[in-house]
Amino acid sequence: MIRFDIISAIPDLLTSPLSHSIMQRAVDKGLLDVQVHDLRSYGLGRYKQIDDYQYGGGAGMVLTPGPLDTIISELKNQRTYDEVIYMTPDGVTYNQSIANRLSLHGNIMIICGHYKGIDQRIRDIHVTCEISIGDYVLSGGELPAAILVDSIGRLIPGVLNNESSALFDSHQDGLLAPPIYTRPAEFKGHVVPEVLLSGNDALIEAWREKHSKSTQKSEE
Ligand code: ADE
Repeated sequence: MIRFDIISAIPDLLTSPLSHSIMQRAVDKGLLDVQVHDLRSYGLGRYKQIDDYQYGGGAGMVLTPGPLDTIISELKNQRTYDEVIYMTPDGVTYNQSIANRLSLHGNIMIICGHYKGIDQRIRDIHVTCEISIGDYVLSGGELPAAILVDSIGRLIPGVLNNESSALFDSHQDGLLAPPIYTRPAEFKGHVVPEVLLSGNDALIEAWREKHSKSTQKSEE
């Protein structure tokens, strides 16, 4: 069982991606718990302010430390977190081996940035791990956080059945999955490779191995 506490200024962005299919089933089975906390409700003053201009000038607002510190501290008072992760384009680039490592934890907190990002002092005081999902900039950390939860959630024992076990996923063995086919055996003149229809498990395995690509991809 892994519990995620996600702090977000736009919680709705997280609800849909995590409430269908395998993730919803993991929640229903009690193997995954995802709690989303609305940063805005911790905002300051009448307008529940959560952001401000940056010192030294420059475009873009920064999430102020007060509301973030309050909610993070409240959560930390309730349980011990194995990691407090900040989703940011300048973090370490996410991959399968980071997902594998994080899947061994019980409690993970994720902070979603917005606008220009969060005040550095929150990173200094609370954050234990900074993760980027790739070298491009998104409007916020919610979609990256959903990617983290999905990729970690499917690794929790019992979430996938044996047949589709995450051990056989692309990337787990340095290989990408071979081509896959389902019925019909012929589609628009394109036929399924004969060997896959042969029923010969050894030949099929050899074919799949041969057609698996290495994950050592070139850049372009
Ligand atoms: N927030 C904005 N862009 C991001 C990225 N590429 N990875 C993680 N968090 C982000």
